[in-house]
Amino acid sequence: MELAGAVTFFLVIYVFCLAIITAKRKLSQKGRLPPGPIPLPLIGNFLQIKSSETVKSLLKLSEKYGPVFTVYFGTRPVVVLCGHQAVKEALIDKADEFSGRITNPTLERTFDGYGVVFANGERWKQLRRFSLTVLRDFGMGKKSIQERIQEEAQFLLEEFRKTKEKPFDPTYFLSRAVSNVICSIVFGDRFDYEDKEFQSLMEMMNNSFREASTAWAQLYDMYVNILKYFPGPHTKIYDILEDMKSFIAKKIQKNKETFDPDFPRDFIDCFLIQMEKEKDKLSSEFNDTNLLITTLNLFFAGTETVSSTLRYGFLFLMKYPEVQAKMHEEIDRVIGRNRAPNIEDRTQMPYTDAAIHEVQRFSDLIPMDLTHMVIRDTEFRGYMIPKGTEIYPMLTSALHDPTMFKRPFAFSPENFLDENGRFKKNEAFVPFSSGKRICAGEALARMELFLFFTTVLQSFELKPLIPPEDIDTTPQESGFANIPPFYQLSIVAR
Ligand code: HEM
Ligand SMILES: *[C@@H]1O[C@H](CO)[C@@H](O)[C@H](O)[C@H]1NC(C)=O
Ligand SMILES: *[C@@H]1O[C@H](CO)[C@@H](O)[C@H](O)[C@H]1NC(C)=O
Repeated sequence: MELAGAVTFFLVIYVFCLAIITAKRKLSQKGRLPPGPIPLPLIGNFLQIKSSETVKSLLKLSEKYGPVFTVYFGTRPVVVLCGHQAVKEALIDKADEFSGRITNPTLERTFDGYGVVFANGERWKQLRRFSLTVLRDFGMGKKSIQERIQEEAQFLLEEFRKTKEKPFDPTYFLSRAVSNVICSIVFGDRFDYEDKEFQSLMEMMNNSFREASTAWAQLYDMYVNILKYFPGPHTKIYDILEDMKSFIAKKIQKNKETFDPDFPRDFIDCFLIQMEKEKDKLSSEFNDTNLLITTLNLFFAGTETVSSTLRYGFLFLMKYPEVQAKMHEEIDRVIGRNRAPNIEDRTQMPYTDAAIHEVQRFSDLIPMDLTHMVIRDTEFRGYMIPKGTEIYPMLTSALHDPTMFKRPFAFSPENFLDENGRFKKNEAFVPFSSGKRICAGEALARMELFLFFTTVLQSFELKPLIPPEDIDTTPQESGFANIPPFYQLSIVAR
């Protein structure tokens, strides 16, 4: 009897403790994440998500679990947002909550939370406000950003003429031109295309972007906890980025030696002025670390993005010659052949504007956006997403949303035109994302796309080497970015 009493007493205590522990766990697990496929320990939803086809796998899961669902990359939960409505409800209607950034593990070692792209909190706010001001053409001295692009577009034409209508791969031409625009903004001047320093910079950019889009890199980012002990793409990308850093550090040093605060020449000079202004401020974000990393960010963010879009655009214009012909017609009518295009022409050129929008929509450059995170516990569609949870806004699903576009899966500038041929805005046009983290280079990128496309088409016709209907526009690599396939074309004077 004594013994039975003791056992009962012990059992009661045990059950009581268990109940407390369970309740505590429930409390600390305060989030109520959206539903999703059941994750396995350690590998999460590895079986449902092919790392070589992340985008496809996630879109497929959304057919089953709806527009908002949770998947586990290893042990990390990620909330995926699909379709225009869900993306907008997060990035616009709850802009502040969803404005956080998580660095992808491949890049974390290099960026370490510095620089405008991967910073959070006060650091991000300061650097973003500053970058926007400079990129919107304030404070950079005599030469406007438009003039820098127009100048580069002329150099590009010259290179195209040298091909003498022979077939070539435009990749190299376009990336040099676009890189030079960033060089001009950041370092004050363009490089000669044959410059050795410039060529090594180009090579570093090329390699890093390609490496970051491979299946290997995707796999690494998902399963970093397991894979970080193995050598792989992350070590390669790290090395390339360190080389770029030292390249930029040298340039910054040169600027410092010749710096005159009354005559800022470029982005770096503007940053140095801001450093001067805030040198007595204890918690200033304007110091050498953020200068170096923000400059590196601009190269990373502003080069392959624009040049891949141009490269994709050329391919679409060859596959759909009727679109190219209409752009030719509009350019001849509005600009003529005797002067360089400028950005004011755009308002008079609804067809070209629509065609460029369609190029961006259809090339779907960054299908899953850069990774966001919620900066506090956030209620969303009846769920509770805990602070720090990773968010994937599936831009690709907004850009192809059948409720928002007449012809979501066709290449058709009519998606951006009304019945009278006027340009028609569309809320679901989000290649630059939307909300507080929207691309800080949007204005610059759109200016570059307009000026490069119109300047090239004003003088040339883009000719494919195979019949248009045989052109395959499937991306050569589709991960973080959709990289257009390799192709050749010939460029023929008009
Ligand atoms: C066609 C060209 C481009 C596309 C499609 C593009 C797209 C994007 C996207 C999707 C993001 C992430 C937004 C988000 O987190 O929700 C982004 C961020 C950013 N982009 Fe671009 N971009 C382009 C060109 C440029 C250019 C030319 C620059 C300037 C040099 C630039 C600078 C930035 C910066 C600084 C950010 C980080 C913004 C932040 O985190 O606050 N981008 N871009
Ligand atoms: C970029 O890299 C690829 C493969 O690594 C190479 O084939 C290509 O020529 C490079 N392009 C440039 C512009 O360096
Ligand atoms: C810049 O400021 C941050 C803190 O805001 C600090 O961690 C970093 O070391 C500073 N870098 C330099 C070079 O002073």
